[in-house]
Amino acid sequence: KHQENQTLLEAHGWLTKLYHHLLRHTKEGKDGYEHLVERGLTDEVIDAFQLGFAPNSKEFTMKFLENKGFHPQTMVKGGLLSYREDGHYGDRFRGRVIFPIRNHQGKTVAFSGRSVNGGDPKYLNSPETDLFQKGKLLYNFDLARAEIRKQNEVVLFEGQMDVISAYQGGIKHGIATLGTALTEPQAKLIRRYVERVIVCYDADRAGQDASYKAATILKKVGCDVRVAQMKDGSDPDDYIRSYGSESFRKHVLEAAVTYTGFMINHLKQGFNLNNEGDRIQYIERVLDEISKISKPLERDHYLRELAGEYDLSLEVLEQEIINRRKKQG
Ligand code: UTP
Ligand code: MN
Ligand code: MN
Ligand code: MN
Ligand code: MN
Repeated sequence: KHQENQTLLEAHGWLTKLYHHLLRHTKEGKDGYEHLVERGLTDEVIDAFQLGFAPNSKEFTMKFLENKGFHPQTMVKGGLLSYREDGHYGDRFRGRVIFPIRNHQGKTVAFSGRSVNGGDPKYLNSPETDLFQKGKLLYNFDLARAEIRKQNEVVLFEGQMDVISAYQGGIKHGIATLGTALTEPQAKLIRRYVERVIVCYDADRAGQDASYKAATILKKVGCDVRVAQMKDGSDPDDYIRSYGSESFRKHVLEAAVTYTGFMINHLKQGFNLNNEGDRIQYIERVLDEISKISKPLERDHYLRELAGEYDLSLEVLEQEIINRRKKQG
């Protein structure tokens, strides 16, 4: 088992180098290079993230791995080759830009391959292995760690392209969950390094629902959570390409709302506020959130806002908070 992990690490190391070389220096990698250049990435950043290209071939990777003496069965387990119905082994990543997924020590443990011709799925990822457990890994944590410490803050993105675009714009404390929901182990790991987290997911509905879930988990493990909201552009990468990283820093990151501010807004979606019963339920949910705030001044701020907006008595709201905080102990 240990030997198998070691072998997979080696194979990922070789392929990271090979795919990167193809993209940067050969005509086999041209489609991949052009895709990245069209998206505005510089050679420097392509190199920093070791981005590569897996050629559209049935046996290119297979022959390479075979030459290095790797057993195809092990490579299938690691998702580098696939076992085809005709009984032959073949390349799994074909005609895709390769994003090496590094573990927290900086070693490639998986790949995420983006199609460049609109093929499905948009991103093909390595399967879970001992080395690659999606729910534990934070993309780019190895590179970002020092910057997270320095800035005392981390930015949490959805996708690798968001991390890379931000990095190119000088925002180097970004990490990503690679399109899956943030897990509690990931949140706890983040909290061990830093308190303040800016959740910066896509502006679409899926991204907003994911923000709600991530913010809830991060709050639970004791983070100071902010949520960034983009009015323009569908995700951080798009935004940065359209408006630049300075605008992103100023109008998205620095304008991120507090956890409670986000919840007050987000929870509205679940209720029809024109309906009396719904409105009361909504207010109850908001009070639940406000009661979690530890700072009295901040609690007071949101209570007054709520009282003003729904024409409620501040005394009653304060009593509701006292009741809730008693229950929480
Ligand atoms: P998005 O759909 O937001 O992708 O998924 P993106 O990063 O903005 O893609 P581009 O800009 O069109 O290249 C966010 C993340 O979810 C994962 C990827 O890690 C992606 O970065 N994902 C997405 C998958 O694993 N598979 C998919 O088919 C799509
Ligand atoms: Mn290089
Ligand atoms: Mn998305
Ligand atoms: Mn996106
Ligand atoms: Mn995108």
